[in-house]
Amino acid sequence: MQIKFFPSLLSADFGALQAEINSVEDFVDGFHFDVMDGHFVPNLTVGAPVLKCLKTNKIFDAHLMIANPEKYIEDFVKAGAHWISIHAETVKNPTEILKKIKLLGAKAGLVLNPETSLDDYLEDFKEANFALIMSVNPGFGGQGFMPEVLEKVRILRKSFPEMDIQIDGGINDKTVKQAIEAGCNVVVSGSYFWGSDDREETANLLRT
Ligand code: DX5
Ligand code: ZN
Repeated sequence: MQIKFFPSLLSADFGALQAEINSVEDFVDGFHFDVMDGHFVPNLTVGAPVLKCLKTNKIFDAHLMIANPEKYIEDFVKAGAHWISIHAETVKNPTEILKKIKLLGAKAGLVLNPETSLDDYLEDFKEANFALIMSVNPGFGGQGFMPEVLEKVRILRKSFPEMDIQIDGGINDKTVKQAIEAGCNVVVSGSYFWGSDDREETANLLRT
């Protein structure tokens, strides 16, 4: 399966987001845009009004770490999000919200926190275009990778051989190998990528 690499803008320079995007756009596959509400996760970032001001010819992937994500999906689609993921922990009926995302024209993703069991949501993943398995507790960049979540990736990959499976949190040159081996094909990296000396080399390294 083709490996895609999406840098997380969370660790980019928020005062120069468009310049950061432009500087790496040629060698990445998309941009991961972390949305936090200070409620579902203990941190705040930015929302659709900021995304709307940004441009890329690659994929914009909005990771919604917010309560009541259904209220904001349309805003994110209008702002230019191509992929939108919602946390299973934030909604009563993931299938319903995933359908709504697809109807609005974006790819729909379902996210599981490290502690969330896959068994409870296997049926909902049938409605998803992609899965996002969190390998840290969401809220902050720069945390350590939790290898135990890879068991969920292995099961998902068996059940859905063609689905995009994304991994997010603590990805570096070493942990990426474990993630890809388990079956992930969309790699997100924040602090490791933006902190590296040669971002092009790092992007290529994270894709192999
Ligand atoms: C964490 C965010 C991640 C974050 C990853 O809640 O969802 O996308 O940017 O950062 P690193 O790669 O530094 O763990
Ligand atoms: Zn994220």
